[in-house]
Amino acid sequence: MKKIALFGATGSIGRSTLDVVGTIDGFCVSAISGHRNLELLHQQAERFRPRWVILTDGSAAKEWNWSLPKGTELCVGMKALTEIAAEAEIDIVVSAIVGRAGLESTAAAAKAGKRIALANKESLVAGGAVVKRLAKENGAEIVPVDSEHSAIFQSLQAGKRSELERVILTASGGPFFRMPDEELKNVTLAQALRHPTWNMGTKVTLDSATLMNKALEIIEAKWLFDLDMERGELEVMIHPQSVVHSMVEFRDGAVIAQLSPPDMRLPIQNALTYPDRIGGGPTRRTNWRLDQTLEFFAPDYSRPKFDALKLGMETALRGGTAGVVLNAANEMAVSAFTRGELRFDQIVPTVRQIVEEHDFQPEPTLEELTVLDEEIRTNFRTPEN
Ligand SMILES: NC(=O)c1ccc[n+]([C@@H]2O[C@H](COP(=O)([O-])OP(=O)(O)OC[C@H]3O[C@@H](n4cnc5c(N)ncnc54)[C@H](OP(=O)(O)O)[C@@H]3O)[C@@H](O)[C@H]2O)c1
Repeated sequence: MKKIALFGATGSIGRSTLDVVGTIDGFCVSAISGHRNLELLHQQAERFRPRWVILTDGSAAKEWNWSLPKGTELCVGMKALTEIAAEAEIDIVVSAIVGRAGLESTAAAAKAGKRIALANKESLVAGGAVVKRLAKENGAEIVPVDSEHSAIFQSLQAGKRSELERVILTASGGPFFRMPDEELKNVTLAQALRHPTWNMGTKVTLDSATLMNKALEIIEAKWLFDLDMERGELEVMIHPQSVVHSMVEFRDGAVIAQLSPPDMRLPIQNALTYPDRIGGGPTRRTNWRLDQTLEFFAPDYSRPKFDALKLGMETALRGGTAGVVLNAANEMAVSAFTRGELRFDQIVPTVRQIVEEHDFQPEPTLEELTVLDEEIRTNFRTPEN
């Protein structure tokens, strides 16, 4: 039995992970965490009977009024995540918290030499150099959960790293791919929350609408696969069907892709079972008896709509503090948009301005990243309209 600590169990990835674990053999859940959704966390505890239930939002603890199954301990606060990530009995940490809040527990799992099934892309965007160093020093293995990175991870196995020409990261283009740029200023929250192909948590859905999700994924891919951005080892293609999850081109011109219906349970399952592939899981299958069309469009980087991709490329190339700043500014801008304080088309320019104006450092420590992250959030202001 492989024992899993699932951080962010009450979220979209967390629930899909429990779907997978509940269906396949060989894995059990030793720890689950939730932040505000106490009722669901309690239901999950009843069903999976983990050793630890972590309530990360300390202020929500007074509302906890359930008893837990015998042998299950309730832990409160973010620190419990880093402690439990390092527990000897944990084999796999599923990092599925949303936003920068996932960084410390991902770093703790890296330090403890665990397998990390990584959904929380923001921890690599904000702290890629630190997390990668900790993983290398302590023998931790990072297996991506993000569908694109899982596809790249799988496709890379068709050749040697030295034979790689480029990675082609696919993007659905989000709900506004076909909308003229000048109409983006009128986009409402309800429209931005309607993703055409994926059913995900609020923040990643909004990031997909602005294409900032792809910017985060560009930076995540650079760290995960040590891509040389200067050499052009990363390209983005818009692929509205979200069936080809990403591709890898080798130096002989062969392109290897991974295809499957848009369902996060497959990359989650792969991250748990790698290097094995197992049957019997809950994932959807491709129906090869139906006609299918797969389209690919090259993004036009001169259009404002695709500026997030350009910003992602620039940030990945720069490294250092650029990622943590981009991520913090984006989290603040997205939440300002959800409160109606920022227009949809202002999100990316606001983030760009903050990234360009910050005091760049090439080699920050985890502590310096934390301070800078806080500073960007505290000083965040919405632009005058
Ligand atoms: N959803 C997808 O299909 C998908 C695909 C690829 C990658 N990802 C990545 O996976 C991560 C999770 O996404 P999601 O869509 O599952 O998000 P989500 O549905 O919003 O769930 C987020 C989880 O994090 C917890 N959480 C929220 N704020 C927290 C904080 N400050 N401290 C600790 N825990 C906190 C939430 O707890 P409560 O709900 O209890 O408050 C919930 O368990 C993100 O990094 C996202 O980019 C998601």
